Amino acid sequence: MRRERVMEAEGLGAASSIDALAGHVERVLAELEAVESSLDLARVREAAIGPTSLLATLSRSLRDLDPSQRSIVGRAVSDARRRVTDALERAGRRVREAELERQLQAERSDPTTGLVRSALDGTGARHLVARARMELEDVFWRLGFEVATGPEVEDEWHNFEALNVAEFHPARAAQDSFYLDVPASPPLLLRTHTSPAQIRLMRRGRLPIYAVVPGRVYRRDTPDARHTPAFHQIEALVVDEGISFAHLKGTIEAFTSAYFGPHIASRLRPAYFPFTEPSAEFEVTCTICGGQGCRTCSGTGWIELGGAGMVHERVLEAGGLDPTSVSGFAFGFGIDRLVQMRYGIADMRILPDNDVRLLWQTRGEA
Ligand code: PHE
Repeated sequence: MRRERVMEAEGLGAASSIDALAGHVERVLAELEAVESSLDLARVREAAIGPTSLLATLSRSLRDLDPSQRSIVGRAVSDARRRVTDALERAGRRVREAELERQLQAERSDPTTGLVRSALDGTGARHLVARARMELEDVFWRLGFEVATGPEVEDEWHNFEALNVAEFHPARAAQDSFYLDVPASPPLLLRTHTSPAQIRLMRRGRLPIYAVVPGRVYRRDTPDARHTPAFHQIEALVVDEGISFAHLKGTIEAFTSAYFGPHIASRLRPAYFPFTEPSAEFEVTCTICGGQGCRTCSGTGWIELGGAGMVHERVLEAGGLDPTSVSGFAFGFGIDRLVQMRYGIADMRILPDNDVRLLWQTRGEA
């Protein structure tokens, strides 16, 4: 096919080659004027100077022309090439600028406009979960804790192994966790709790640790009134010399009365977590009935908030610490659950819905 074009070009003779070339250049220049995207530009470039273009075909055929014609056609070819490449360069600059401008316009965001602000006469409103998170951070900050963060995408080691969660533990099954569909060894997943942050805090290698880590966590739960597949937790970790269960109990008590008020008490009940020993569940006075017993607390007067315990020796070791010289406690609980209780929200699924009416309803509070 290319060979045929060369033959054609040869057959044209110098004068008609030069005419054809002039036509080619004019067409290319006109097309470049209209080009609006780098994709268009690439297409025009290919047709203008690509291996099957008239320009390329003519340059290849030069050596077959007789010397007198070769110099005339040769000059015309290099002239045409220069005009075309200059124009391609100019169009390239113009297209790049236009594309950048389009991208900037598309990504532009103006926080002073939009649905929430206009709906609220300019006052704005924070989501209940974000507000609770900030209040909790504040409570812990005043107790002397630092507020830290950890990644939402974790590897199995941080999320499970280092936390002493055995390989056959049901939590590790794919039907309970969101694994990422990327080739990685070991596999990556969305963290199923904020506890992997414990490992990251310990591995910073700085003691003592008094830290809380708020953040989003993910589990493959079917959404219902009390579960959503993405929710929020706060992890607390303390590691220091001589930390005991009494410190754990005292911290939980201090935090619950700071957050809910002095009329709310907390209690610990034996439980099991692979990463703490001993482990406990912690419960607070049911905010709905004030501890009298109601449907929400199944008549017990208490509502379970989260898990807690003394950091397991193996977890300290995985964190690079020596269990014979330091000890620690950890607890973790769901922020969404706390919000649900505090505001008496019957169905948790309204939280990720982002319906502005929920925000308007509660914007004046707290
Ligand atoms: N990570 C546990 C959970 O998500 C809670 C927990 C944290 C328990 C810290 C003990 C210590 O259920």
